[in-house]
Amino acid sequence: MNKANAAANQGALISLKGLTKIYRKGQDSVRALDGIDLSLAEKGMVAIVGASGSGKSSLLHIVGAMDHPTDGEIVVAGQALRTLPESGLTRFRRKTVGFVFQSFNLIPNLSALENVMLPMEFNDVPGEERHARAKTLLEKIGLGARLHHKPRELSGGEQQRVAIARALANNPPLIMADEPTGNLDSKTGQIIYELLKEIARERTVVVVTHAEALAQLADRVVHIRDGKLESDSQSAQTGNTHFETRRNVNHV
Ligand SMILES: Nc1ncnc2c1ncn2[C@@H]1O[C@H](COP(=O)(O)OP(=O)(O)O)[C@@H](O)[C@H]1O
Ligand SMILES: [Mg+2]
Repeated sequence: MNKANAAANQGALISLKGLTKIYRKGQDSVRALDGIDLSLAEKGMVAIVGASGSGKSSLLHIVGAMDHPTDGEIVVAGQALRTLPESGLTRFRRKTVGFVFQSFNLIPNLSALENVMLPMEFNDVPGEERHARAKTLLEKIGLGARLHHKPRELSGGEQQRVAIARALANNPPLIMADEPTGNLDSKTGQIIYELLKEIARERTVVVVTHAEALAQLADRVVHIRDGKLESDSQSAQTGNTHFETRRNVNHV
């Protein structure tokens, strides 16, 4: 193993081994994730690409501790999620992850500023600090003139930018976005991607998409199909044997 690979290993923010999710409904069961092995570095933008139903959202929800896996190991920011009690998972969700959704999910009767302040309230950040930080975040992403607008008074792209500022509120090391441009026109989608890419200079950003063109803007593109890793641009480019040993099992 060369030095670069050793450094990459130490810098892994997310490490998944044999991650499996089976949804059971009565007699039926769906194997949504089927033995995913994947390490994602600290910092950088990773696109997860796959057809509808391939398991992308399941993957994000499990990495974000919003759902439990059926089997496998999952370590995020040094925390083995399957060993954490519910209180630890709640803390993890508040401090470690920021989520961005396709439909923005802003609270309609709160202003942009109040929407961004809200996650800090759950983290007991003092009021003045919440206000100052939310304002700074919104100014940074170009919404300084929209602080007091309600979501319905904002365009789709602006709403998604507020949602991104909200995801950043508690300064988490991981941002995950599930088809964040699915409800936006392609030009606005491109702007959102560029913003996420900039954010990824300081943290890990995982973006789910089925738009190949947007995925190509990411530092790394991982394709999944039927709950399995299908390809990974990083292994193709670097031939990094350290992480790929297990992943190659799924390589064609
Ligand atoms: N809560 C659930 N209960 C049962 N099946 C589910 C549930 N969530 C997702 N699935 C199934 O798991 C598979 C993967 O879903 P999902 O992770 O949402 O895929 P994607 O986000 O790539 O479209 C699909 O076949 C879907 O129908
Ligand atoms: Mg999905």
